[in-house]
Amino acid sequence: MEEESAQHMRAKGSKQSKGKVDYSSTNVDDYSILKEGQAEILLRGNDVFYNKAQIVNRDLSIAVVRAFLSVREEETKSGKNKKKNDLQKPVDSEKESVELTDGDTPSEPTNSKMEDVKSDAMPPPKPLRVLEALAASGLRALRYAKEIDRVGSVVALDNDEVAVESCKRNIKLNGSVAAAKVQPVHADARVYMLTHEKQFDVVDVDPYGSPSVFLDSAVQTVADGGLLMCTATDMAVLCGNNGEVCYTKYGAYPLRGKYCHEMALRILLASIESHANRYKRYIVPVLSVSVDFYIRVFVRIFTSPKTVKASASKLSYLYQCVGCDAFHLQPVGRIVCKNDNPRYLPGAGPVILPECKHCGKRFNMGGPIWSEPIHDPDWIALILKEMKSCRKSYPAFEKVHGVVTAISEELLDVPLYLSLHSLCSTLKCTSPSASIFRYAIANAGYDVSSSHASPLGLKTNAPMDVIWDIMRCWVKTHPVKAQPADLPGSIILSQEPVLQANFSKVNAALSKARAKGIPRFVPNPEEFWGPKPRAGRQLSSKHFHSHGFVAAVQNGASHAIQQNMPLAKEGEAAVEEVTTELEKGVAEVEPETKRQKVDS
Ligand SMILES: C[S@@+](CC[C@H](N)C(=O)[O-])C[C@H]1O[C@@H](n2cnc3c(N)ncnc32)[C@H](O)[C@@H]1O
Ligand SMILES: [Zn+2]
Repeated sequence: MEEESAQHMRAKGSKQSKGKVDYSSTNVDDYSILKEGQAEILLRGNDVFYNKAQIVNRDLSIAVVRAFLSVREEETKSGKNKKKNDLQKPVDSEKESVELTDGDTPSEPTNSKMEDVKSDAMPPPKPLRVLEALAASGLRALRYAKEIDRVGSVVALDNDEVAVESCKRNIKLNGSVAAAKVQPVHADARVYMLTHEKQFDVVDVDPYGSPSVFLDSAVQTVADGGLLMCTATDMAVLCGNNGEVCYTKYGAYPLRGKYCHEMALRILLASIESHANRYKRYIVPVLSVSVDFYIRVFVRIFTSPKTVKASASKLSYLYQCVGCDAFHLQPVGRIVCKNDNPRYLPGAGPVILPECKHCGKRFNMGGPIWSEPIHDPDWIALILKEMKSCRKSYPAFEKVHGVVTAISEELLDVPLYLSLHSLCSTLKCTSPSASIFRYAIANAGYDVSSSHASPLGLKTNAPMDVIWDIMRCWVKTHPVKAQPADLPGSIILSQEPVLQANFSKVNAALSKARAKGIPRFVPNPEEFWGPKPRAGRQLSSKHFHSHGFVAAVQNGASHAIQQNMPLAKEGEAAVEEVTTELEKGVAEVEPETKRQKVDS
């Protein structure tokens, strides 16, 4: 592709005629230039999708891809990639050229298959082949190309002609490295991914709303051992406002628990696993993040008909008591080993009686959800190390580092979390501070951690008997007003605690990052840090005000935010992509102070 600077483009002049938007204009005076990391893009109104708030998503993805490069290098050194993975295989250049249109940049020259995995001394891994399946302006693709040295090629794909034109302009604007590496493609991502089986080491799926329609082809286009990164912004659906819609999209029923953001992650993971299983493939989650108004998962994909047999044992249904905070996991499958031979059996159940043993109410059943760990601690350590070593290259360093730090402290083998406020709401009592509550759990001999998905979340392997006993002991010194006897809280408090809670300080129960003053729940830099409407929509004051997002969205979201509940309905893009904790980063909020008022 001809190298063309911003100045050169300016000199070419505008082709815009009066009253008509000329999407092919190459005159930079028609646009504003936006810089993020090392990439620059040309922006004009809402021609092509751009959301500043997704800088966190893009920064985090760059950190994860860099960690992936380190992991891959280690695996190659230790010979792990040799047979197992497709990571060494070159892109099928014949197929690739079919997709190129006039003016597109040819892909990196690929080496012949002869070179592939031959000798015992493993050559260094080849440069990464990245697919940005929903590229819009190409900003993310350009950042991968320019900021990650060992990225060899990036296919920036979009089915919107205007977006592809914009991507081409932006490639030109970004100089020779971008031109050599980034290849714009105009296609439907689903078709493209289906016809490029196992061709990409890294695949990024970053749609408006739900990724569900892309999952089946996405799991097929990732090379063995490759990385799939997937965003979902349809949080209202994933968090349980329209459970039936979630079921049709993801094959799982969500519940409206306080843990709904982590449940959303686990629903998405279960859905990706289910699509992968159809092709004898399985996922290994390395990082799963709930941030601002969306979730994003990073999973590796491998092929193994044998390992796929274990998939049902990695999923569980979830029973949530309708009267109190108790929840239980019911595994879908289990593995029984006899003489070292695994047998794959259906889950044994039911794991609970029909009535909650704490409050006597019934249960709702959700899921199936992914009930194995959702992060890999080695990856988290690598990501944090990598970020700290080049913090200046991350424009959203504070926030991204905070989120990953919070994740690094989560208990890995404890799905979901309790909310201290919700426990107190059930009992209608004042709340102990999170620290005091955590001391009591640790003193009872159990583990406890916070959750990155909610500043008020508490993960613990303590059973609900222990949790309610701790709360009963708390209430003995902080009495509640008389309540009707049939309320769940009254039923729970009518029983004497078996355990005598010890609320004295235990350092091990507290966040190490917090003690060191490392922020975890970092405030967003601006007001209206939220989702954006689809590209091409006319923006009016109804949608935006000068800062970005409007009252219409805020009004819709504010009630949900206050109530910590998902939005009522998946509707217009502006609304569908908002979630409960739009502003959850408002502070390093751990409820250290005693609260007189609790959720009702
Ligand atoms: C949210 S934007 C992507 C933002 C981009 N990843 C970034 O970081 O700036 C979603 C894009 O997906 C594109 N898109 C939607 N459906 C598609 C499909 N079936 N195939 C390819 N692109 C699609 C839209 O045109 C839009 O540009
Ligand atoms: Zn109950």
